Amino acid sequence: MARLDGKIVVVTGGASGLGRSGATLMHAEGAVVVITDINAELGRETAAEVGENCLYLEHDVSQLDDWNRVFEQVIERYGRVDVLVNNAGIVVVADVEKTTLEEWRRVHSVGTDGTFFGIQLAIGAMRKTGGGSIINMSSLAGIMGYPLIFAYSASKGAIRSMTKSAAVYCAQNSFDIRVNSIHPGTIATPMVAGFSADVEDQGEDRVKLKIGQPDDVGHMMVYLASDESKFVSGSEFVIDSTASVTEGLVPG
Ligand SMILES: NC(=O)c1ccc[n+]([C@@H]2O[C@H](COP(=O)([O-])OP(=O)(O)OC[C@H]3O[C@@H](n4cnc5c(N)ncnc54)[C@H](O)[C@@H]3O)[C@@H](O)[C@H]2O)c1
Repeated sequence: MARLDGKIVVVTGGASGLGRSGATLMHAEGAVVVITDINAELGRETAAEVGENCLYLEHDVSQLDDWNRVFEQVIERYGRVDVLVNNAGIVVVADVEKTTLEEWRRVHSVGTDGTFFGIQLAIGAMRKTGGGSIINMSSLAGIMGYPLIFAYSASKGAIRSMTKSAAVYCAQNSFDIRVNSIHPGTIATPMVAGFSADVEDQGEDRVKLKIGQPDDVGHMMVYLASDESKFVSGSEFVIDSTASVTEGLVPG
């Protein structure tokens, strides 16, 4: 029996990068995977590549109406949601003095609002079907000080805190719902390709990055989605091959 046999999994921002890796690996372990994304073309392409029992739904995570529609469609089709990966996120490269209000709100609308909506709806749905696992994509930036990505860091810090608050809420109410956060360092995805170029444009020469691969994070999604992590909730999982504990290996 595969590790995720029969589980219904929703991955936001699943068309690309880490979401795509997680979707592929969870599907390989027997899950039915629903990829959601604003990028319809890439979303459909990724779902087709993942294969049978992988569906794409158009979804802007910053919009509560979209969330309601996605949950309705998944529950109508499959009866429940066992795992939600709140993965969609965007980054803006700007320090605290340069960040505009528009940039601040844009980053938070996707990362912070999107994760809030997802956690709230997932708890509501999972309570009715006996439980589940909510996996929130934070970042090392949610733990450490990254001066060049101010709004993003604030959003990832909020995701880290929302995770712990929701996890304790579920435990106190005896819901069998686990809520955990993942904190990758730098992983080779399209987001990071853009980010690195912006950092170089700002003349940042202190950045010496250890770079991981999307599957390094995708495998953690498999573990947190599976019943192997049944005693794990409210926890944060750093995936960075020591970058956060080694001086000088994080963006200045
Ligand atoms: N790559 C890294 O080094 C790294 C490190 C730490 C955390 N993360 C986090 O991992 C997650 C995935 O990042 P990635 O590196 O795979 O980036 P990516 O840009 O490759 O993928 C992000 C996906 O999210 C989608 N998306 C963007 N806005 C959306 C919205 N409003 N609604 C739905 N989908 C939307 C994009 O279309 C894209 O498919 C993000 O939350 C990111 O902050 C990435």
